[in-house]
Amino acid sequence: MTANHPSRNRIAVMHGVNLDQLGRRPATHYGTLNLMQLEARIGAWASELELTVQFFQSNHEGAFVEELHRLEDTVDGLILNPGAWTHYSWAIRDALEIAGLPAVEVHLSDVETREQWRRVSVIRDLCVATVAGKGPDGYRDALARLRDELGSQR
Ligand code: DQA
Repeated sequence: MTANHPSRNRIAVMHGVNLDQLGRRPATHYGTLNLMQLEARIGAWASELELTVQFFQSNHEGAFVEELHRLEDTVDGLILNPGAWTHYSWAIRDALEIAGLPAVEVHLSDVETREQWRRVSVIRDLCVATVAGKGPDGYRDALARLRDELGSQR
């Protein structure tokens, strides 16, 4: 264990609607990895950072909300890519607020330079950071950001 190892190191990585279809979606925006390959990369980066990760994906908004309800005592931080729900799901926003955990919003694509509707995020102000447009590497940045956040909260 390194000196700055965070004692609170359990991270949930949550993917929302259509993220299970990575590998079939436009590669210009989302790259070529499928979700399993992406999660394997995230898992490797997490171990390097001495974080433990658990993964969740659903295409059902209620299931995503209920997973957020369950997380409070089981993890210390969250990485969220809710897919299109990011842009309009007030239910997911409310559930994130209930979870009360430090969260980082991640998007594979550069949502700011795409369609106007993708520039809106209903969860952004509840998150300690947003990482977008960096492809899979964005998750490594998000893990590092959360690690700093959890370390500083000790
Ligand atoms: C996404 C961006 C969203 O606008 C889109 O609906 C997605 C994926 C991303 O990772 O770039 O499904 O969250």
